[in-house]
Amino acid sequence: ENNKDEEEEENAGETASSEETKQTEENGYIPSKENNNTDSTTKNIVKEEGKSVDRQTTASEESSETPRLMKKKPATFVILERKPEIQAARLKLPVVAEEQMIVEAINENPVVIITGETGSGKTTQVPQFLYEAGYAKDRLIGVTEPRRVAAISMSKRVAEEMNLTEKEVSYLIRFKGNVTSETKVKFMTDGVLLKEIQSDFLLTKYSVIILDEAHERSVYTDILIGLLSRIVPLRNKRKDPLKLVIMSATLRVEEFVENSKLFKTKPPVLTVESRQFPVTIYFNKRTSVNYVSDALKKTIKIHTRLPDGGILIFLTGQQEVNFIVRKLRKAFSTRNKKETSNTKESSQKTDDSLKETENAENKNDNSNESDNNDDDDDDDFRSEDDKEVQLDEDEDEDDDMVDLKACVNAQPLWVLPLYSLLPSYKQARVFEPPPEGHRLCVVATNVAETSLTIPNVKYVVDCGRCKTRMYDKVTGVSTYKICYTSKASANQRAGRAGRTGPGHCYRLYSSAVFNDQFEQFSQSEIQRKPVDDLLLQMKVMNIDKVVNFPFPTPPDTVQLQMAEKRLMILGALQQLHSDKESSYNAKVTPLGRSIAAFPVAPRYGKMLAFSHQHNLLEYTVCMVAALSVQEVLMEAFEMDGNSRNKWLQMRRFWAGTGNNLFLGDPMVLIRAIGGAEYAGAKGKLLRFCEEHGLRHKAVVEVRKLRQQLTNEINLNVQNLNLVINPEMKPPIDTEAKLLRQIILAGMADQVARKVMPDEVNEDQDKAKWKYAYKTKDMEDPVFMHSSCVLRKTCPEWVVYQEIYETNKMYMRGVTAIEPEWLPKFAPSLCHLGEPLTDPPPRYDPETGRVMCSMAGTFGRAGWKLPVMDVE
Ligand code: CDP
Ligand code: MG
Repeated sequence: ENNKDEEEEENAGETASSEETKQTEENGYIPSKENNNTDSTTKNIVKEEGKSVDRQTTASEESSETPRLMKKKPATFVILERKPEIQAARLKLPVVAEEQMIVEAINENPVVIITGETGSGKTTQVPQFLYEAGYAKDRLIGVTEPRRVAAISMSKRVAEEMNLTEKEVSYLIRFKGNVTSETKVKFMTDGVLLKEIQSDFLLTKYSVIILDEAHERSVYTDILIGLLSRIVPLRNKRKDPLKLVIMSATLRVEEFVENSKLFKTKPPVLTVESRQFPVTIYFNKRTSVNYVSDALKKTIKIHTRLPDGGILIFLTGQQEVNFIVRKLRKAFSTRNKKETSNTKESSQKTDDSLKETENAENKNDNSNESDNNDDDDDDDFRSEDDKEVQLDEDEDEDDDMVDLKACVNAQPLWVLPLYSLLPSYKQARVFEPPPEGHRLCVVATNVAETSLTIPNVKYVVDCGRCKTRMYDKVTGVSTYKICYTSKASANQRAGRAGRTGPGHCYRLYSSAVFNDQFEQFSQSEIQRKPVDDLLLQMKVMNIDKVVNFPFPTPPDTVQLQMAEKRLMILGALQQLHSDKESSYNAKVTPLGRSIAAFPVAPRYGKMLAFSHQHNLLEYTVCMVAALSVQEVLMEAFEMDGNSRNKWLQMRRFWAGTGNNLFLGDPMVLIRAIGGAEYAGAKGKLLRFCEEHGLRHKAVVEVRKLRQQLTNEINLNVQNLNLVINPEMKPPIDTEAKLLRQIILAGMADQVARKVMPDEVNEDQDKAKWKYAYKTKDMEDPVFMHSSCVLRKTCPEWVVYQEIYETNKMYMRGVTAIEPEWLPKFAPSLCHLGEPLTDPPPRYDPETGRVMCSMAGTFGRAGWKLPVMDVE
């Protein structure tokens, strides 16, 4: 069905602009409200009294087209009754001055791009303009945000400003929302809108879609832009126009405007000029690694020495934020100031409320409530251990550092954290003025960079880093790494200090680092992410011709092709027989849909999907996390005699017997991490690692990743509520067998078969070939690495996690499999039903099994046929 749509779009695009003008006339969207106010017969005015003041101040000009349009139909616009204080605040926003220009542009163009400084009022005001222009009369105004935080907090704010309830201005994020049948303005995450397109391609519920924060270039926003570039002309063709508004903070919009593949007619770019006061920028002489304690020192200096004005500190994650908040509250707690404080009562009150806040936040730290989780860049789930590791060093240092005298005498500091996992009512506190006599200090992640604007900030402290989601090329598992931000985002951060007056920005890094190591712009996510996942997600949405898709920045074509091949091996995609000639149009399978529900690379998604069926998810999550971190286990040569023996013993114990043994290296990892989790829960992680030959840092990393995966899975798979049990038992024999099959299912392209003695030439040293294996794609043999627990037994058939090359090629992360599993779990390796070249699979009544032959290297003449149990 969507294919048809895509074909139609060709024609639709060309007629778009002419259709559009006609539509505007027919529907009679009124560009100027001024006009309408004079039309007393208009039925559509809902409330006439609270006529907004700003309307008179901004609607000074009239479009020459207005009278002509006016004749056609009565006005459709709606007037809101706003509270006077809200109205006064609105009038100060630069975007309000441009209301008429914006509404007219949207009336007259199918696609409009709006750029403007953060805080100029785009997110809160543009939906209101469109509401008043009548866009919510019969249909919804949809606003997408890349972050859940913004979707929730903006819907609340806009409801308040419009004096409407949350029934009318609502939000929807995954598994949570308050949308009703009365909803007029709907804030949602970009992922939610993508899901809606899957069931209603033309988005018929909406009259306008606003894509907010497009500069963030999240994969979902990018795909949405591509899809909407096709949906908009289609809706036009149906004489039922859908408007698209793309809003962005920085001026990086060339990818949208100049891209003729996206929009046939260049969309107009409206720039909201806002008053920005000068911000003086101070670089550090050197770039210290310990930016957390640097930020603390700098903030204390600012607070104790510089004149009044809010302080905004940019750090990379929730844990750093909470750390600094605790430190600052300790240093400037009201308790220190009891003597100097005049009003004991108020100081006491503040103290209590601070304590309360702190308690509540600590609680929040430890909870893993899935509905609060966010997939933002500052999403972070660190364990207790991690806290010790990372921040202990600062703990001693800072007591010397903090000039306690200065702190005692200082004005009280109102310290508030801001990160995406913080409950939204707590986030809202940053918008309120601090208690009398206090200076506001907000410690934030990059949520405060563009999505949320904090009032009255005069000083910005910028650590210059951000937490970026990185994807492992091999495993596709994502981890968060702390990297330098881009120049654009550093300038964005600095700009936060100049909203209400001249400001100052303290950068905790040198100008040399800024100039040489900061990228101009942050890379769009689509260029960082492996495309396997992206491709699968799009196929799930029935976008089959992904190569032709109008991405703002397209991913690499060769990468797309390879990804398609890999997904077909996994069974996530399937080429339909009729399409055999043409490539790129494989369709998603039911298995592919289950895989896509898991937030990891399809290879692991498949393992998780299979484990879900067998209740083995807790093992698989643990295993995937462990396989994704390099070198969890120490190597034998790193140990001295005594501990090496102990270590070897331990490893043998972990490997187990029977099916446990054949689960091989993943089994050792599962048990090592299981043990570490148990030790960690008792606070003895470091010792456990030392005693058992584990790299402490890697183990901490695995635990983090395991927690992150668990949370993300809970977010993506409803009613699962997976938890990490510190007392997880090792898998029993039947479970281990299933896990081996699950590993094979995910690594179906990484099967190896042992080289048999008769395959080795007479003149070759047979002893050396003891560990040799053949793989599907490689000519040369690969060898079982000495670190593999299966090296002693060298089973006939194995799957490996990776091959790495030194003097020879070595397999690592090896699991034994049974060849009869291959037709079921790795069918692409088997010739099934090609009677001309191979015998077809056949039932052998003597053994009760189905026989079939193997493909490629495996299928050498005379090789035993793998067999599958018939059940
Ligand atoms: O989207 P843009 O960055 O252009 O601005 P905005 O988010 O619409 O914010 C406009 C103004 O509303 C800012 O000055 C914010 O501080 C303020 N605001 C607020 O006071 N309370 C909220 N919950 C949200 C925004
Ligand atoms: Mg905004």
